[in-house]
Amino acid sequence: MAEVSLSSGDQADAQASRFLRACARQPADCTPVWFMRQAGRYMPAYRAVRAAHSLLEICAQPELAAEVTLQPVRALGVDAAILFADILLPLIPMGIRLDFSAGEGPVIHNALRTPADVDALRVVEPREALAAVLQAVRLVRRELEGKIPLIGFAGAPFTLASYLVEGGASRTFLKTKRLMYSDPAAWHRLMEKLAQVIASYLSAQVEAGAQAVQLFDSWAGALAPEDYRQYVLPYSRHIFQALAGCGVPAIHFGTGTFALLPDLKAAGGSVFGLDWTTPLGQGWQILGPDVAIQGNLDPAALFAPPQELERRVRRVLQQAGGRPGHIFNLGHGILPDTPPANVKAVVDMVHELTSTHANT
Ligand code: CP3
Repeated sequence: MAEVSLSSGDQADAQASRFLRACARQPADCTPVWFMRQAGRYMPAYRAVRAAHSLLEICAQPELAAEVTLQPVRALGVDAAILFADILLPLIPMGIRLDFSAGEGPVIHNALRTPADVDALRVVEPREALAAVLQAVRLVRRELEGKIPLIGFAGAPFTLASYLVEGGASRTFLKTKRLMYSDPAAWHRLMEKLAQVIASYLSAQVEAGAQAVQLFDSWAGALAPEDYRQYVLPYSRHIFQALAGCGVPAIHFGTGTFALLPDLKAAGGSVFGLDWTTPLGQGWQILGPDVAIQGNLDPAALFAPPQELERRVRRVLQQAGGRPGHIFNLGHGILPDTPPANVKAVVDMVHELTSTHANT
């Protein structure tokens, strides 16, 4: 029997609950899709705001942060908004001086060099020190009017520590590992401070209205599982435990994490973000049926010709196999020169290919 087509009101309700239903591994009307770094330089509207304001200015002004958060929602029709901020923001009130110099990524001017530098880091109360971010959460919630959910986020202690110790991006994480191996006491003090601040920062985002949170441990895959367990896992676990009472889904994301998946699961989270180096089906099998999965298209696929892009989108969906609990995303953030039309095409493709009303 042909299904009755949905009225636009029902469609709006269906979109409003799609992402949160998938996080809870409940069936949804189609697979939800959003993108890490969905707001950013690939988007002309974002570049227009950036022409007049620095990244840190946008983050410090709730109205601007809210506006930039909503740009991809309007342009793409994604099923979740992610707050516009940066994982490095909490480091500023902790005593770190940083900027994002054009094209080179973040630069930290007073990188941690000695145990005394670790001890000088301030453990701040995010409700005061990061009030502008929390105000942006409230504004975005108001402007979204319940149409789609808002995701809050923070950097995980290891990924933040790597920026603090390296002073910026790194390929080898040598300084970070040297601190870990040569002065474990200082390392553990650093991780404890970060875990404390991030746990209350994420709780504060939920209080302000974030309906899910994502912990970005982007560079965790640089660690051997044994090192992850000894030097990192307890601190990420502290954060997920602090969030357990908040009642919102917690997404645990990292790249290159195939060998770490059992340990990431032990650290916590109800949704796991995989990159494209982990076949989605295999990753889900390792993590188990009691978690939801987010991912995992290669961001480079967005540069492929239409047919090749579609083939790659279909392959991710095939790996998910129609199981409830899949949230379509990239395996890492959108790259700066990505054609916006291809991002929009992926949103439409995911919705069309997975719609339970596709034949009406
Ligand atoms: O749309 C969204 O996803 C929300 C906004 C967001 C930003 N950063 C804004 C931003 C999010 C979720 C982040 C997370 C973030 N920031 C991570 C974790 C995700 C990942 O990619 O692994 C990391 C490692 C950072 C640190 C960071 N901030 C880097 C490495 C860079 C430079 C990258 C580059 O492309 O230059 C930033 C700057 C940054 N943060 C930009 C944006 C939109 C681009 C810079 C700009 O507008 O000048």
